[in-house]
Amino acid sequence: MAGKTWSSQVCLPFFILCFYFLFPTNGAPSKPNIIFILTDDLDIQLGGLIPLTKTKQLIGDAGITFTNMFVTSPLCCPSRSSILTGQYVHNHLVWNNSLSGNCSSLSWQKKFEPTLFPVKLNKNGYKTFFAGKYLNQYGKESVGGVQHVPPGWTSWNGLVGNSVYYNYSLSVNGVLESHGDSYKADYLTDLISRRAVKFIQHQNINKNPFFMMLATPAPHSPFTSAPQYSKEFANKKAPRDKSFNVHSKDKHWLVRKAASPMPNTTISFIDDTFRNRWKTLLSVDDLVENVVKQLDAVGQLNNTYIFFTSDNGYHLGQFSLSFDKRQLYDFDNRVPLLVRGPGIKPKQQRHEFVLNIDLAPTFLNLTGIPVSNSMDGKSLVPLFQGNVTNEPKFRQNCLIEHKGEAHVEIRQCPQYKNQGLATCDSNCVCEDSWNNTYGCVRQLSPTENFKYCEFEDQDHFIEMYDLNKDPFELTNIASTADPKFVSQLSQELAKLSLCKGKSCQETT
Ligand SMILES: *[C@@H]1O[C@H](CO)[C@@H](O)[C@H](O)[C@H]1NC(C)=O
Ligand SMILES: *[C@@H]1O[C@H](CO)[C@@H](O)[C@H](O)[C@H]1NC(C)=O
Ligand SMILES: *[C@@H]1O[C@H](CO)[C@@H](O)[C@H](O)[C@H]1NC(C)=O
Ligand SMILES: *[C@@H]1O[C@H](CO)[C@@H](O)[C@H](O)[C@H]1NC(C)=O
Ligand SMILES: *[C@@H]1O[C@H](CO)[C@@H](O)[C@H](O)[C@H]1NC(C)=O
Ligand SMILES: *[C@@H]1O[C@H](CO)[C@@H](O)[C@H](O)[C@H]1NC(C)=O
Ligand SMILES: *[C@@H]1O[C@H](CO)[C@@H](O)[C@H](O)[C@H]1NC(C)=O
Ligand SMILES: *[C@@H]1O[C@H](CO)[C@@H](O)[C@H](O)[C@H]1NC(C)=O
Repeated sequence: MAGKTWSSQVCLPFFILCFYFLFPTNGAPSKPNIIFILTDDLDIQLGGLIPLTKTKQLIGDAGITFTNMFVTSPLCCPSRSSILTGQYVHNHLVWNNSLSGNCSSLSWQKKFEPTLFPVKLNKNGYKTFFAGKYLNQYGKESVGGVQHVPPGWTSWNGLVGNSVYYNYSLSVNGVLESHGDSYKADYLTDLISRRAVKFIQHQNINKNPFFMMLATPAPHSPFTSAPQYSKEFANKKAPRDKSFNVHSKDKHWLVRKAASPMPNTTISFIDDTFRNRWKTLLSVDDLVENVVKQLDAVGQLNNTYIFFTSDNGYHLGQFSLSFDKRQLYDFDNRVPLLVRGPGIKPKQQRHEFVLNIDLAPTFLNLTGIPVSNSMDGKSLVPLFQGNVTNEPKFRQNCLIEHKGEAHVEIRQCPQYKNQGLATCDSNCVCEDSWNNTYGCVRQLSPTENFKYCEFEDQDHFIEMYDLNKDPFELTNIASTADPKFVSQLSQELAKLSLCKGKSCQETT
C-alpha cells in the first residue's frame, strides 16, 4: 500500500518509469492479502482465548492483541451487519436475528449488500472468498434461497441459517450443497479450513491479492466438538467470577426475575456448556494453524494481514442468567481482537477503545480504498504502525444498542405464551424479552471507565456502572452518582443514538 502511494507521487513526472511501476509483471504484488476470521459467540471474559493456544501464538504474539475491543450490539445478526457495513445498528436497521428485524432481508440485500466492502475490494482487483456463517436468515427461500450470492464475493460458501456443525446446507456459489454428519466430510469448522487452504493454494498472487472471510460456527450452540476433542477439558468448570450466581436486585426486570441461587442442575449444565464450547474451539485453533501454514507454503505469510475476532461475547451464570448474550454487561460486549500483518511489530498489546464497526473501514484503508462517509467506525490502520499504547485520542465513547426479541410461542415454558419473552432455559429463566431494549453509552479512557444505559421499558429503567471501581458491574450507581454527570451521559447517549458517520466518531 505504501508502495502504491510512493510510486504515484514520485513517478508521475516521469511517465515511463511510472508505467513500469504501476503495471508490475512479476515480483511482489502491490497490495496485501487479508484474512478475517470471525468466530460465533466467543467471549473474552470467561477465558475464551485460553484454549486457542496456537491462535494466540500465530496471530496475537506475531502482532497485536487488542485489550479493549467491543461490539456495538451483543447479538449475532445485528453485530455481523455492523461488521459488514461499518455502521451502528440504528443506521443499518438490522435489529435482531429475524427477517422482520431485517436480518439478511430483501431490503438489506437491496440497500446494503451492493455497497459493502467485498464489492469495493473486488472492484479494486481483489479475489474475495467467503466460507461459513453469514447472517442468521441467509439462504432462506423467502429471501432468495441459496441462489442469492451477496455481490462482491468471487468464491462463496455460505451456510444456510444459523451456526451448526453437522446436517447443514451451503450455498456454493449459488448452488445447494447438502451435508450430513460424517466427521471427515462434513464437520463445518474443518470444511471451512480445507476450502480456505485450497483457495490459498490456487491463487495467482502476482495477478490478484485476496480477501478471505472465514466465519466459524464455533463456539456457538449446539457446541458439537470434533470426535478427537470430545474428551478434552474434563476437569474444567465455568469460572466462578464475582458475578457468577449472584442475584442482582438493582438491575433491570429480566435480571431481577432470574432464579437465584441457580439450581444445581443449571450449574451442571453451565459447566458442561463451558467445556463443550472450549472443545469446539480446538478445531478453530487447527483452522488458524492450517491457514497460516498454507500462507507460509506459498510465500504469502509476510504479505497477509490476519484478523481474529467474534460477533459478541457470552455469559454462563453471571447474575444467575444461565447461558446467552444480549445483555448490556461487558461479558456480552467485550470480544477478542488479534491482528498480525506486514508492518505490524510482534508481541504488542494495545489498549485503545476499538469496535466491530472499525473492521470494515480498516479493510478498505489497508487496501488503499477511501473509507466512505457513511461508515460510523474508524480505520485501525494508524494503530498498526505506532508503538504508543493507550492513545486516548482514538476513541472515548461508543454506543451499545439492543432491541429485545419476543417469541409468541415458548416451547419450553408454555406459561409464557404471548408474554413477549424469549430464549428461556429449562427452568424458565429467560434471557430476552421485548422490553430488554436498551441503549448504552460506554465511556473508556485512561482515567474514566463508565457505562450508562436507558431501557425502553415500562420503568424507563436506568443502569450505570463505574467499571474502574466495579469491574464486575455488581452495583448500579444510577441513583447515587452525581446527577450532573448522569444527565451529561444521558445527553451523550441521545446524541450517539442518532449519530451518522463522522458525528459518531467525535470524542467528548
Ligand atoms: C429494514 O430496512 C429497511 C431499509 O433499510 C427500512 O426501510 C426498514 O424500516 C427496516 N425495518 C425495520 C424493522 O427497521
Ligand atoms: C443428522 O441427521 C440424521 C438424519 O436426520 C440424524 O440421524 C443424525 O442424528 C443427525 N446428526 C446430528 C449430529 O445431528
Ligand atoms: C447443590 O450443590 C452444592 C455444592 O455441590 C451442595 O452443597 C448442595 O447440597 C446441592 N443442593 C442440592 C439441592 O442438591
Ligand atoms: C516475504 O517472504 C518471502 C519468502 O519467505 C521473501 O522472499 C520476501 O523477501 C519476504 N518479503 C518481505 C517484504 O519481507
Ligand atoms: C488510510 O487512511 C489514511 C487516513 O485517511 C490515509 O492517510 C492513508 O493514506 C490511507 N491508507 C491507504 C493505503 O490508502
Ligand atoms: C517504534 O519503536 C522503534 C524502536 O523500538 C522506533 O525505532 C520507532 O521510531 C518507533 N515508532 C513510533 C511510531 O513511535
Ligand atoms: C425483530 O425486530 C422487528 C423490528 O423491530 C420486530 O417486528 C420483530 O418482532 C422482532 N423479532 C422478534 C423475534 O422479536
Ligand atoms: C417487561 O415485559 C414483561 C412481559 O411482557 C412484563 O411482565 C414486565 O412487567 C415488563 N417490565 C417492564 C419493566 O417493562
